Amino acid sequence: ELGAAEPTIVAKAHLSDGIEEITVYSPVIARSAQAGQFVRVLPRPDGELIPLTLADWDEKAGTITLVIQGVGVSSNEMNAMQVGDAFTGIAGPLGQPSRLHRYEPGTTVVFTAGGLGLPPVHPIMREHLRLGNHVTLISGFRSANLMFWDGEDERVGKLQAEFGDQLDVVYATNDGSFGVKGFVTAPLQEMLEANKAGQGRTVAEVIAIGPPMMMRAVSDLTQPYGVPTVASLNSIMVDATGMCGACMVPVTVDGKLVRKHACIDGPEIDAHAIDWDKFLPRFNLFRKQELEARAKHGM
Ligand code: FES
Repeated sequence: ELGAAEPTIVAKAHLSDGIEEITVYSPVIARSAQAGQFVRVLPRPDGELIPLTLADWDEKAGTITLVIQGVGVSSNEMNAMQVGDAFTGIAGPLGQPSRLHRYEPGTTVVFTAGGLGLPPVHPIMREHLRLGNHVTLISGFRSANLMFWDGEDERVGKLQAEFGDQLDVVYATNDGSFGVKGFVTAPLQEMLEANKAGQGRTVAEVIAIGPPMMMRAVSDLTQPYGVPTVASLNSIMVDATGMCGACMVPVTVDGKLVRKHACIDGPEIDAHAIDWDKFLPRFNLFRKQELEARAKHGM
């Protein structure tokens, strides 16, 4: 019995280059978490707040699982923490849970996960499967050596074992070292074209989680086919308090351009309503700030 109120790290696994899976004792969050939600972690007292989408949770064990990519000072610090170490605090669950629909037989819900998009996809995918929906996961990585969770005893493999034919998994790698060569959009386009020809499972909805450019590509692809598409904007949040403004998304609602906060109104946003031209250029700016922060800290 850990008993401690502190969010202590109880397990840690190295997933791939710079990516760690951390399981933390956090019973209150584990009890109330819903698919699509995230938490805000304060790793140390004078550190930065880091929003992280829940990759998994275990109500019985009172734990939550987070996947962290070491891309900045704080995330690298988090990844250096060990089992037994505790975060200063975790707040959550935050954000709107995924909107789940039960779709007709003969349809499929497609998830396009780019690299680190796979952890946030996992609980949402599982919820759709539990609802009885057929799910197609198109999991994209830059290269085979960066893949994770594909083994039999790992999360995607376990879902395949549990749900059998209800889950199709397609891998795409940019360099062709595993699965389809190219981006996640290629297998999705094939499915949409097949649908047009009256073949295959009808794509009922697409949920894209990953780098903003990928989500835009998916959104541009599905729009002419009229397939409802959701972009989960986890990756753009900075403090997830609704205050920093970093996650502001220009969205058209009823013909009017409004601004939404991914950390409050999201993380899931109707992808076809996003003004991607206004939205995307901002990421280069964040990237620059991040590189400067790393340079300052000699990382
Ligand atoms: Fe700062 Fe949403 S992440 S306001």
